[in-house]
Amino acid sequence: MGKITVSLIKADVGSVAGHVIVPDEIKEVARNYLNEKKEEGKIIDFRVFNAGDDLELLMTHTRGVDSEVIHKIAWDVFKLAAEKAKELKLYAAGQDLLVDAFSGNVRGLGPGVAEMEFTERKAEPFVAFMMDKTEPGAFNLPIFKIFADPFTTAGLVIDPKLHNGFVFEIWDIIENKRVFMKAPEEMYDILALIGSKGRFVIKRVYPKEGGALPPDEPVAVVSTEKLYKIAGKYVGKDDPVAIVRAQSGLPAMGEILEAFSFPHMVSGWMRGSHNGPILPVPLKYSKCTRFDGPPRCIAVGFQLNNGKLVGPVDLFDDPAFEYTRMKAMEITDYIRRHGPFEPHRLPSEEMEYTTLPKVLDKLKDRFEPV
Ligand code: F6R
Ligand code: MG
Ligand code: MG
Repeated sequence: MGKITVSLIKADVGSVAGHVIVPDEIKEVARNYLNEKKEEGKIIDFRVFNAGDDLELLMTHTRGVDSEVIHKIAWDVFKLAAEKAKELKLYAAGQDLLVDAFSGNVRGLGPGVAEMEFTERKAEPFVAFMMDKTEPGAFNLPIFKIFADPFTTAGLVIDPKLHNGFVFEIWDIIENKRVFMKAPEEMYDILALIGSKGRFVIKRVYPKEGGALPPDEPVAVVSTEKLYKIAGKYVGKDDPVAIVRAQSGLPAMGEILEAFSFPHMVSGWMRGSHNGPILPVPLKYSKCTRFDGPPRCIAVGFQLNNGKLVGPVDLFDDPAFEYTRMKAMEITDYIRRHGPFEPHRLPSEEMEYTTLPKVLDKLKDRFEPV
């Protein structure tokens, strides 16, 4: 068997009770259509999830990344789902579909994409992460910890197959350029970039030359679309997704998940304009309620069997993450009490919508020099 591609493509095409969840009727539309495409042999396998109000399509196939066939399938699912959403009068029906016509690739049309092509190993475990009410940079901290922090991934210290470290592909999403950097050698320089998570985002991670895995096949990938840049105005948060491969020369599944035991601060909560902790939750809690949040992350684990998906395992459905959730809620209470003050509210340049220019305009004749 040749290489397998795993594609995770998502969009918010309408939700119930405001921006809370994608209802079953919409997921059913997606499942039915993807089932047809599976029977036609266009994809090998698929699963459909919701991360809060985002419809998530996980597909496997042999067509490589950026395949027109696969992207068209995803686009058609979102179109059909948006039609159904309009029929049901769902909230924000069709929100993330920014153009009417498909043109070869969903990039830039609204949906978010994380996909990678690789040679399926003898046993191939991976995890798909899906976040709601936040931005792609929310993955910087956990992905860095997984592949570069020895206090998270013990294998970096004690497993000879991981000991050489990894290569990070980092994108500047404001100036649309990228750089490849090595860890641990360039760790401090990497952190100097990715600490600015609204601008520099980890796009992919690769094994190093001479290791157990091919250096040209990614081991992790993150979606990096910036919806508001695409549309030129605010049309909803990016709500990113990521795929991470595990074990046998890569971080163990438990090392990967360990990176989510700390509920780090991310931006994108309430009106895309607030900071808050990320809550790792089981699928049943994949719905943003309190102050439209707090931002959350679900994780589903699989084994690949010649491209077929064996799973999912609902990875955060575990009391082991209860303490993280409690901690996150303590932080939530603390930061919520700042109300409209920074650092809960984002600085005005980063807010997705703001009344500040109007307020300043109204007061312009009343401001006097001091
Ligand atoms: C949407 C989101 C929400 C909305 C808020 C206002 O995913 O993050 O916090 O921004 O509910 O939504 P509208 O303007 O649609 O009433
Ligand atoms: Mg929504
Ligand atoms: Mg969302």
